[in-house]
Amino acid sequence: MVRAPHFDPSRPNIARIYDYFLGGKDHCRADREQAAKIIAIAPYVPRLAVANRTFLGRVVRYLAKEAGVRQFLDIGSGLPTRQNVHEIAQEANADARVVYVDNDPLVLVHARALLATTPTTHVIDGDLRDSGRILGEASRFLDFSQPIAVLLFAILHFFPDGGEHDPYRIVSTLTDSLAPGSYLAISHVEPAPAMIEAAGAYTAADVAFRDHHGVLPFFNGTTLVEPGLVRLNEWRPDDHDSIYPSDWPDVPVWVLGGVGRKP
Ligand SMILES: C[S@@+](CC[C@H](N)C(=O)[O-])C[C@H]1O[C@@H](n2cnc3c(N)ncnc32)[C@H](O)[C@@H]1O
Repeated sequence: MVRAPHFDPSRPNIARIYDYFLGGKDHCRADREQAAKIIAIAPYVPRLAVANRTFLGRVVRYLAKEAGVRQFLDIGSGLPTRQNVHEIAQEANADARVVYVDNDPLVLVHARALLATTPTTHVIDGDLRDSGRILGEASRFLDFSQPIAVLLFAILHFFPDGGEHDPYRIVSTLTDSLAPGSYLAISHVEPAPAMIEAAGAYTAADVAFRDHHGVLPFFNGTTLVEPGLVRLNEWRPDDHDSIYPSDWPDVPVWVLGGVGRKP
C-alpha cells in the first residue's frame, strides 16, 4: 500500500524547498530554515534547481517542436512555476495534451488551480511507487497507442536501488507501456562530494545519488538523442535560459540529464 504525504508545514518538504530554491512563494518556515542550512554548506544548490528547470524547458521545447510530441506525462511535476510543461508544449501545438502527476497534496491543490487551465491539461494524484495506477489514470486523458513523452525530472533520486519500489523496475514498467516513437526524459543528481555533504542537511527525503553508470540503465529500451546523458547545462543550451538570472558562481552542474526515444 503506497502512503501519500500529508500537508505538514512544520516539516521540511521536497516540493516546497525546491520552490524556495526556484524563487517561488509556496514554502513554509521549516522549508526556508532547511534551505538556509543547505545553502550554508553548498551556496550553489539553488542554481542547480534553476538549471534543472531550464533543462526541463529545453527538453519540452525540443520534444514539442522538433520531435513533434503531442502528449506529455510529467511525473513528480512539482509546484507551478515559470515555464510549466503545458505552456511550452501548447505553444508549439495548441492541442498538446499534458498530464501532471504528483503525490504531494499542496502541489495537487496548486496544480489544479494554476496548471489544469486548458481542456487538454489534467492533474492526477499519483505516486511513482504505484506506476500501474498512474498509467491507468493517465490513459483516461492520453492515447497510449500514440507517442507520449514521460518526464521524470528530479524525482528518481528519491528512490534507492532495489526493494519493493526499485526505480529501475518502475521506469521500465513505464517505458514498456509506451508506443514506438515515445520519449523518456530524466534529470538526476550526481554523487559529487559537495552534494552529498549538502544532502546531510536535507531531511525532507533521503537522496539516492547516481553517477553516469547508475542513471544510464533507466534509458534501457530507448535510444538516447544527442548529446546523450550529460550535465544539464550541456544538453542543447539555448537562448531561453536567459529568463533566469545567471550571476551565480561558476560551479559544475552536478545533475545529469538525458532524453531517450523508444524505437
Ligand atoms: C524536486 S521536485 C521536481 C519538480 C519538477 N519535476 C522539476 O523538475 O522541476 C520533486 C517532485 O516530485 C514529487 N514526488 C516525490 N516523490 C514522489 C512520488 N513517490 N510520487 C509522485 N511524486 C513524487 C514531489 O512532491 C515534488 O513535487
